[in-house]
Amino acid sequence: MKFFVDTADIKEIEELIPTGFVDGVTTNPSLIAKNGDDMAKTIKAICSIVPGPVSAEVTATDFDTMLQEGEYLASLAKNVAVKVPLTPNGLKTCKTLREKNIMVNVTLCFTAAQALLAAKAGASFISPFVGRLDDLGENGMDLIEDIVDIFDNYDFDTEVLVASIRSTQHVIDAAVIGAHVSTLPPKVIHELYNHPLTEKGLNAFLEDWKKTGQSILPK
Ligand code: E4P
Repeated sequence: MKFFVDTADIKEIEELIPTGFVDGVTTNPSLIAKNGDDMAKTIKAICSIVPGPVSAEVTATDFDTMLQEGEYLASLAKNVAVKVPLTPNGLKTCKTLREKNIMVNVTLCFTAAQALLAAKAGASFISPFVGRLDDLGENGMDLIEDIVDIFDNYDFDTEVLVASIRSTQHVIDAAVIGAHVSTLPPKVIHELYNHPLTEKGLNAFLEDWKKTGQSILPK
């Protein structure tokens, strides 16, 4: 499973790069607003340090402007994946951008039917939002299971990019189902390391090691 980082904060991305976990980055208008910097500058900066796909989202809702915005965003760096919302105009834009060989991530997906439409429009990625479905009392992972099954049935090239991830359990469930990508807020990436028995075990090993008076490196 690939890990994308769900942030527009360059510092957070820089900190995570040495871990080797950063296969790509996703941003959205809310994350760009939270970061507070110019969008084009931010996307260029992220693309210069992350070789994998970096999603940058259009904000127009009509086809002509969406297409112009998508082409502009794609011109910023060769690894930009243009993000479009799952609307009729978004899917039309997806199809046109894909014909120009531009990567497209179709976002705000909440049903398997929507995912099927995105795959038929040639999307490189489809982003179902699990956390926001859980917030409504639904089980977001059921949607991931359905989409992965449907895509397997028809050999679609579209990658399932699990978005709106809130917990370690979301990541595990998405991996068990076989989703291609999870996009994780940095906080969740840090939580993936944690288990109380790891901490307890390490402390015990270190205590016992201290008693030996040894050091591994020659003095
Ligand atoms: C990423 O592509 C999505 O925009 C993001 O994961 C949404 O997450 P949220 O529901 O926590 O805002």
